[in-house]
Amino acid sequence: MKQETTTIAAEDIARQQGFCQDLKNRFLVGNTTPTACVDTFGCQQNVADGQKLMGMLQEMGFTLTSDTKTADVVILNTCAIRDHAEQRVFGNLGALKHNLKQNPNQIICLCGCMAQQERVSQRIKETYRHVSLVFGPHALWKFPELLYNVYQSKKRVFSVAPEDGTIAEGLPIVREGNIRAWVSIMYGCNNFCSYCIVPYVRGRERSRAKEDVLEEVRGLIADGFKEITLLGQNVNSYGNDLEGDYDFADLLADIDKIEGKYYIRFMSSHPKDATYKLFDVMAGSEHIARQLHLPFQSGNNRVLEVMNRRYTREKYLDLIHYAKAKMPDLVVTSDVIIGFPGETAEEVEDTISLVAEEGFDALFTFIYSPRPGTKAAEFPDPVSREEKQVWFDKLLNVQNKNSGIRHQAYVGQTIEVLVDGESDDEEFPLTGRTEGNRLVRLKGDKNLIGDFAMVEVTGCNTFALNGVATPN
Ligand code: 5AD
Ligand code: SF4
Repeated sequence: MKQETTTIAAEDIARQQGFCQDLKNRFLVGNTTPTACVDTFGCQQNVADGQKLMGMLQEMGFTLTSDTKTADVVILNTCAIRDHAEQRVFGNLGALKHNLKQNPNQIICLCGCMAQQERVSQRIKETYRHVSLVFGPHALWKFPELLYNVYQSKKRVFSVAPEDGTIAEGLPIVREGNIRAWVSIMYGCNNFCSYCIVPYVRGRERSRAKEDVLEEVRGLIADGFKEITLLGQNVNSYGNDLEGDYDFADLLADIDKIEGKYYIRFMSSHPKDATYKLFDVMAGSEHIARQLHLPFQSGNNRVLEVMNRRYTREKYLDLIHYAKAKMPDLVVTSDVIIGFPGETAEEVEDTISLVAEEGFDALFTFIYSPRPGTKAAEFPDPVSREEKQVWFDKLLNVQNKNSGIRHQAYVGQTIEVLVDGESDDEEFPLTGRTEGNRLVRLKGDKNLIGDFAMVEVTGCNTFALNGVATPN
């Protein structure tokens, strides 16, 4: 049976706009121009949430700043995926407490995935008493009301009740520049990979209506954006909660029909839900970048099973072989976890051999980090951190060689690049991305920024290609 997806009623969103207006009036009466800083950690989904927070802050009359010292409101938009990310945030909260001596009226807010965890909100309540507002991803859309309550009551506000999650349409967004944009197409995750905290903090999967997604993408292309990345924890299950059989591949095919010169990207994909149909659509499309981020996490079938990934090494290989056969120029990247509880040195070798054989263009490698509340956090984990580091370094070496070979193969070619900004390299003062999302540093005129250029690749290092823009 399809689960029910709840969309926040338009009146409720309009009520939030009312709170924005009330705060704006309050600042006008006080003759102040307040400033706010949003500090975002973690994944692209969080970056997209941060852009909505900035949109709401602007509607409340705030000027945005990146200075946490002087801002009237500071928001830490947090990530819970690994312990390291959490520790950094606790460190930042400590530093902010120090700032309060100079700026005693500053309002400090904590939101995002960390905030949604009971263990964290409890710790903030008890130990970080200088934090005024705490809210999880489910409450993002009512941020204006929550902040209004902080101003009005002068009391601390916590909105972290566990919820299954909803869809909120029509929130204002502050995009960064007008070259690339993020578009969330779904929220939440149903997969419960045994190591992962996301399903606990972002709730069940829910997909935006296709008309809403299409309208947003059309608007962005009309505004001149050149690269749009569709976001979801598992974009391949888009539509599972909606009426009918419309799926992610159908959505891509519909977006591709929009006229213009632009790239469409998407992330992340789960191999258990990736289909041949998806790769057929990509291969036949004009705008979908020949780039695939398909995390495999482990190359060993026993480990995949205890991770609850629900595919095998063979199924994964079959998928990427099919995709590469359809699109020989496809750039494939992946995520890998090393040191999952109970993983043996031999099992790690299966991951390393998969990486060596498939030659990924880039790999995002992580040492397993136990997340309280997940199944894997309860598993025995006898291997020391030092040993895991040795495995990790070995994997990295193999991957670095791969990246070197892949990069070298571009040298001498002339390829299309979306030029997106300036670099700090004097010789190659511009930056850009290839269709496969490879970083390029190039020589060329500044007015190329924001457009596509043909670039002759003249050299490379392990992380970027270097080149020269060729005259059209
Ligand atoms: N420990 C280490 N890495 C993790 N990831 C998710 N949860 C954990 C964890 N507990 C990695 C996965 C995922 C990426 C976004 O983060 O590889 O694909
Ligand atoms: Fe986490 Fe797995 Fe969901 Fe990705 S698919 S967010 S790794 S539970």
